Amino acid sequence: MHPPQPLDGVSPELWLLDPTWSFLNAGSFGLRLREVYEARLALLGQMDTQPVEFLERTAPPLWERARAALADFVSADVEGLGFVANATEGIDAVLVDASIRDGRVLVGDQAYGAVKAASQWGANLGSGHVEEVKIPLPVEKVEDVVAMWDAALADGAALAIVDHVTSGTALVQPVAEIVQRCRAHDVPVLIDGAHAPGLLDLDIAAIGADWYVGNLHKWVGAPSGAGFIWTAPQHRDRTRPLALSHECADSYEAAFMWQGTRDVTPWLVLPEAIQAVSNRWGWTALRQWQHEMAMWSCAQLVEALGTEPSDGTGGKMTAAMTSVRIPGEPWKQWADRFAMRDAIASRHKIELAIDDLAGAWWVRLSMGPWVQPEEIGRAADAVKECLV
Ligand SMILES: Cc1ncc(COP(=O)(O)O)c(C=O)c1O
Repeated sequence: MHPPQPLDGVSPELWLLDPTWSFLNAGSFGLRLREVYEARLALLGQMDTQPVEFLERTAPPLWERARAALADFVSADVEGLGFVANATEGIDAVLVDASIRDGRVLVGDQAYGAVKAASQWGANLGSGHVEEVKIPLPVEKVEDVVAMWDAALADGAALAIVDHVTSGTALVQPVAEIVQRCRAHDVPVLIDGAHAPGLLDLDIAAIGADWYVGNLHKWVGAPSGAGFIWTAPQHRDRTRPLALSHECADSYEAAFMWQGTRDVTPWLVLPEAIQAVSNRWGWTALRQWQHEMAMWSCAQLVEALGTEPSDGTGGKMTAAMTSVRIPGEPWKQWADRFAMRDAIASRHKIELAIDDLAGAWWVRLSMGPWVQPEEIGRAADAVKECLV
């Protein structure tokens, strides 16, 4: 097995990245192309030189333009889309509803920690409770994930929160099938798509959830602070952004359009971020390269560490990230997973992610076009060095 050929015209200067680092963790906060950063800075300059002109007259048509670009990119009707700062804010906008706080909320056991914490906080404020749906790890068959959800949904719930792509274990989950099971059990469903836009060829309309939340700063390369929520028509009279402002009672769209004074530039340059990839490589080619690189990297890690990947299906649940079990009991050597990650960063200037799930630690590597094959071997060596 060989790594894929680099994409055309790739050179590290395209990104703002510090070239002394091996950056294998775009999954956490993304990475921006320099041209997107510059487009954002230009708008920030306009905002700070004449804030009233910018926020009240320049920004609204740019907001409409960005929303239309988003609707096209994620295949959702534009009326259902609202920008938020990040996936956390979008998920919290759903969780604040009292009917959810007072009910049974289901989350996957591999859900992002903040999502579990916020669900629990909501339940503590109300009279509800949170239950975790255990997903086998490694996943051997995609159908097993659907079956686990189906069993948990049978008792009914006020809300199911389902990851499109799990965080630490980087698994692309069969969300359309899980949504069908939610419908069959009459359970409203929120898809946490924090990683999905850009990473996957997203079709929100086809998934058919009640809410879909995504980040644009992870895999689309928009500036930090660009997230969105899509809400199905039947919930648009109740769902609102967390920052309620003048028009919050007018309509769903108006409420999301003005969320108080804030930096809206990350949203406004979304069309530039989408276009930059389209012009350079095309989204399909980028996804294909990232997938091949993730599969190749997975094989390198498995060989080096002598363990197995979270995706035991042979790649059906892998997109641009791979997650492989760290052998032994690293928790006996390290205070926590962050201590081990930070040691790798400070010793080698390698940025990667380590998660702690199902009684094991998992190393996650994220592929972006700047990643070189030799970086994967160095990352594997750095992990092994932490285990002696
Ligand atoms: C699955 C998942 N959900 C939610 C989030 C939260 O994203 P943000 O910090 O941008 O709100 C993350 C972040 O990595 C994530 O992986």
